[in-house]
Amino acid sequence: MSSHDAAVSDEALLAALFTDAHTARSFRDEPAPIEQVRRAYDNARWAPTALNSQPMRLDLLASPEARQRLAPLMAGMNQEPVLSAPLALIVSADLALDKSMRELGTSEQMLARLAGSLEMRKSLARDSALIQLGYLVLALRAEGLDVGVMTGADLAGVDAEFHADRPWQAIAVVCVGHGDADAFNPRAGRHEFDAVSQVL
Ligand SMILES: Cc1cc2nc3c(=O)[nH]c(=O)nc-3n(C[C@H](O)[C@H](O)[C@H](O)COP(=O)(O)O)c2cc1C
Repeated sequence: MSSHDAAVSDEALLAALFTDAHTARSFRDEPAPIEQVRRAYDNARWAPTALNSQPMRLDLLASPEARQRLAPLMAGMNQEPVLSAPLALIVSADLALDKSMRELGTSEQMLARLAGSLEMRKSLARDSALIQLGYLVLALRAEGLDVGVMTGADLAGVDAEFHADRPWQAIAVVCVGHGDADAFNPRAGRHEFDAVSQVL
């Protein structure tokens, strides 16, 4: 049986990943172990990416001091989540992704094209890092962690503060932990399939 034949029908699993999972914005005083993020990454890294480029990079802000450096760069309502979470991730796209792609066996011809075009590297890195971010959210939830994705931030300022020594471009901040009683807004609506699709 090939892997795509294996439909997932476990209701509890599907609820944890999809129907019951939603954005957490405040957190209990309970750790989010790095080991769980490592396991989540080990699952999420199987996401499809353009040319198998895998451009997503992570800063794990595990110390209160590191999260205090981030908080002033967040939009007002996003500061409290960053300060209350036991862990915040800066998720970035590596604009020098051609360097790491060499290790993954990308052809020299493609590497040369990428090396010659910052525009190509930027669009490839951003598109695929966003897909990897989506997978990472699911994988963190599969670990039993609550997450809140946030782009309301001075992302250029985040790069200046955390990435002065490397060409990583921040695309989002993800708060990770265990939601407290006030963590969740009422479930926001979702579009029906028929409203968002056409069968041709
Ligand atoms: C790319 C992205 C950016 C987001 N930015 C913010 C943000 O800056 N602040 C915030 O409170 N929530 C943010 N969110 C969370 C969304 O508002 C939330 O996922 C959406 O309203 C659905 O709510 P639910 O996850 O509780 O169902 C963001 C989510 C995504 C995917």
